[in-house]
Amino acid sequence: MFWNRARRDGGKSEGEPGARPPEPAVSAPPETSAPAPEPEPDVLTDIPRIQYKRVWDSLSDTRIRAMQYVVGSDREQDVRSTAKETVQILARTVGFSDTQTMLEIGCGIGRVGQALAPVCREWIGCDVSGRMLEHARARLQGVPNVRLVELSGYDLQPIDDQSIDVVYCTIVFMHLEEWERYNYVCEAFRVLRPGGRFYVDNFTICTDEGWKIFETHRRFLPGDREPQISKSSTPQELETYLRRAGFVDLKTRIDGALVRYWAHKPR
Ligand SMILES: C[S@@+](CC[C@H](N)C(=O)[O-])C[C@H]1O[C@@H](n2cnc3c(N)ncnc32)[C@H](O)[C@@H]1O
Repeated sequence: MFWNRARRDGGKSEGEPGARPPEPAVSAPPETSAPAPEPEPDVLTDIPRIQYKRVWDSLSDTRIRAMQYVVGSDREQDVRSTAKETVQILARTVGFSDTQTMLEIGCGIGRVGQALAPVCREWIGCDVSGRMLEHARARLQGVPNVRLVELSGYDLQPIDDQSIDVVYCTIVFMHLEEWERYNYVCEAFRVLRPGGRFYVDNFTICTDEGWKIFETHRRFLPGDREPQISKSSTPQELETYLRRAGFVDLKTRIDGALVRYWAHKPR
């Protein structure tokens, strides 16, 4: 499961700038009585989850770290193979064609956009992190039908009403608070044309695979949980958001740890 990680080292390798230093060996007390230096703040656990921009800019400070937080791997072939899987899921759920405009909420490094842009009219990648978008820009350089948009973290304000055919949001809701989740569902509804389609997923504690993730994260002490740690949704939660926002023809599927929902905006 490429998205299920709870990195204790902030994703950095030993020796890389910003990596947690190795635990010091037990040693004799220092000979001077000078006060001990203030410990380096733990960048990640010190930032509240809702400061989405700071959290995700910090997680994507290098191309390799950004890849690790999006794909769980720094191998280019993993970026491409997982993107292929996501595109197949979108094809089977919301569908798309080369005449349609697609928008991704939380596009990260443009993993999915790289595979989708060649098969749709326009691909719009939106993300709260300017740094993630820089990595996406580099990845999608030379692809003409791509637009990248930096978000506030809770809305799609730069996107016009009724201008999009398909909005999707994958491997993002686990990093959001419930209010932002619902805000994005409402915003997806606003920007979709009548008849447009919306897809969303999250991990759920309602399956054994999802419960395992929850248990793994439960083992951390509360103060040790990093702000991006994955939090689940129940199928009922996602269904409620979609219905309350006005979507119709709701469909759902559970795949391992993931609950997927997709629906239409009425015509
Ligand atoms: C695990 S990555 C998934 C990226 C992409 N959806 C994919 O599947 O390749 C989560 C992404 O969500 C973005 N994100 C986190 N909080 C966000 C928010 N409040 N609004 C928009 N994007 C957000 C992060 O910057 C990151 O790029």
